Amino acid sequence: MSQTDSLNLQPVNRGDASSPLVLLGVTGCIAAYKSCEILRGLQKAGVRVKVVMTKNACEFVGPTTFRALTHEPVAIDTFGDGPGDPIHHVSLAEECDLFLIAPCTANVLAKMAAGIADDLLSTTALACTAPIAVAPAMNVHMYEAVATQSNMRTLAARGVHFIEPGEGYLACGDVGRGRLADPADIVSYALEMLKSERDLAGKRIVVTAGPTVEPIDAVRFISNPSTGKMGFAIAEAAARRGAQVTLVTGPVSLDDVAGAQMVRVGTACEMKAAVDEAFPSADIAIFSAAVSDFRPRVACDRKLKKGADDEALAHIDLVENPDILASCGASKRAGQVVVGFAAETNDVTGNARSKLVRKGADFIVANDVSCGRGFGADSDETSFVSASGEEHLPEMGKRQLADRILDKALEFLK
Ligand code: C5P
Repeated sequence: MSQTDSLNLQPVNRGDASSPLVLLGVTGCIAAYKSCEILRGLQKAGVRVKVVMTKNACEFVGPTTFRALTHEPVAIDTFGDGPGDPIHHVSLAEECDLFLIAPCTANVLAKMAAGIADDLLSTTALACTAPIAVAPAMNVHMYEAVATQSNMRTLAARGVHFIEPGEGYLACGDVGRGRLADPADIVSYALEMLKSERDLAGKRIVVTAGPTVEPIDAVRFISNPSTGKMGFAIAEAAARRGAQVTLVTGPVSLDDVAGAQMVRVGTACEMKAAVDEAFPSADIAIFSAAVSDFRPRVACDRKLKKGADDEALAHIDLVENPDILASCGASKRAGQVVVGFAAETNDVTGNARSKLVRKGADFIVANDVSCGRGFGADSDETSFVSASGEEHLPEMGKRQLADRILDKALEFLK
């Protein structure tokens, strides 16, 4: 989209009541003028746009501009935008299909991360249950500040989508990361989000998550540090996109995923039994659980005592657990998509490729967990490994990765 387009006030499709509604949040930075271009790009795609601005944003672009472009009242004050236009933060938050904050300042990111709601835009963000996408724009040092980076990680972990800023010459004269992403890219990102909204409606998805716990005795067990974040993010994204989700999870400290059928299990055998029940009717099965490969042959039902039970404690006889992914991969019918994970410390893609074949998966999400990466992190750098090759993904939040995994699974389903 050219600069001329953004100034072209010829009639565009402003959408109607049946059009998807994007609430465009504009915050106070020099890139605020680019919001007009984003707004027009969305409208050209048939999206209805309403604008909420911070008071600081009004220093850069007047609300009249947005009012003229949208033919809608512009929301700034918590108590309304003037006579006849009582706009309430809750109704704005409730009616939109996507809240796109572009540009978003470090200040607004910090307020969102902390849950501060001291103006209409931040109050709306807090009240919003629709997907939120944020395009940060700020000085490079503000962007790289530990506080900003930490706020972004917090928000990404909560499911906020980030449209990363680019590098280049910044308005302040510095050169570096912090430039608002290209308006055309922001528009495409928002349109993708809207499109993917309910694209899994009618699909059944099974997800495994978390660790398994294999008891040695009444108080000891074999397990691993999986937190379940990845699987829960996948289940959340799938439910948001309209799928009927069964989430089979080992012991984790995460809340139930709204809209998903939760099956909480302990051992690999229990996880297998739950998956066996759900898999036959599933369209997509995603195995992100870190399943213990072996379990103690016998689990003593009392606490083994040091001294009296030294022999039993020092020599734990292990037997192999069933491989849930491999058994589903082997029994899958035409039209079912099976996705596995490969958390590896060396030869990541090599191992993923052999896992792909060995387990009969359609694709493997491979990531490097050497040097403590992967487990428990909020973001991951991964590759999709399938029979047709490898696709490397840049580091991204687990929520965003969850959507990418579902997008990929949908490609196989079609
Ligand atoms: O063989 P490995 O454990 O590295 O394979 C990882 C993949 O296989 C993951 O997708 C994991 O969920 C799945 N898996 C499984 N059952 C097992 C072991 C692994 O479903 N017993």
